[in-house]
Amino acid sequence: MTSQSILSPWWRSPSFAGKALNGSAKLWFVTVLVGQAIFSLYIVMFYYTATVANDIERFNKVMPAGYIEGDFWGNIAVMGHVLFAAIITVGGLLQLLPIIRNKIPALHRWNGRLYISTAMIMSLSGAFMIITRFDKVAGDWFGHTAIMINGTIIMVCAVMAFKFARQKKFVQHRIWALRLFVAVSGVWMFRVGMMAWLSIHGKPVGFDPISFSGPFLAALQTLVFVLPLLFLEVYIRAQARGSVLQKLMATIGVLLISLIMMGGIFGATMGLWLPRI
Ligand code: HEM
Repeated sequence: MTSQSILSPWWRSPSFAGKALNGSAKLWFVTVLVGQAIFSLYIVMFYYTATVANDIERFNKVMPAGYIEGDFWGNIAVMGHVLFAAIITVGGLLQLLPIIRNKIPALHRWNGRLYISTAMIMSLSGAFMIITRFDKVAGDWFGHTAIMINGTIIMVCAVMAFKFARQKKFVQHRIWALRLFVAVSGVWMFRVGMMAWLSIHGKPVGFDPISFSGPFLAALQTLVFVLPLLFLEVYIRAQARGSVLQKLMATIGVLLISLIMMGGIFGATMGLWLPRI
């Protein structure tokens, strides 16, 4: 036994801190995996079945600006957006699974190309819907601007992740791919965060559910991508060269976020997604 291990409790050892951080990241990923898998199932069961049944008007049960008669290009953008929504959600999960990266690298490469193209399609179709249907899309100008910024970040991360993969600079590629995943997940996080909030309060607090605007929504629409992106930077640095204390703090942060997300996923599944499947 070394003098270091006699003086320091076991939880202050570098190996425990490293294992704790990796373990908390795994719990976070499993939470996201389950939540996004349910979200994808909802998209397929609701939007895909409506499209196959040639009943696009059914979209309007969920989206105020879903199908609009006479707006050909707007309707195409909406259809493309919701159909690719399931592809990007499942694609992102597959990209992060270590077994696929390590054992089937060809699938990782092709799915990566699909993921990056879909990220572009989602951001551009979303921006097109907002610009051409500004007064009909749910929410106010603040929310629209926030999601447009989220879309811009998604496109920048997609280009950078692709560029570094082509250059075979895999350390930078991994970092930009993680940023891309987190930025894309902002859209899903918004639904999870809203349902976590509604579950806590039992009614809409801090926003008007009719106009879909208010201080709570303004904060949530921004925080769903800004906070996770900031937190990812802390995680990347803590994992690479953080002290024991920094790793333990990051572990507690990841555990807390995972717990809040579990509550939100349960609320979103029961309140938003299951009733529409
Ligand atoms: C990249 C990941 C994204 C996913 C998975 C996604 C998913 C979805 C889904 C499923 C809907 C239908 C509403 C629902 O059933 O919840 C939707 C609507 C919408 N999305 Fe996205 N989206 C993404 C990104 C974006 C971006 C980047 C923008 C903006 C630049 C955007 C703008 C919109 C708009 C305007 C609507 C219609 C809302 C309404 O009519 O009120 N989305 N999205």
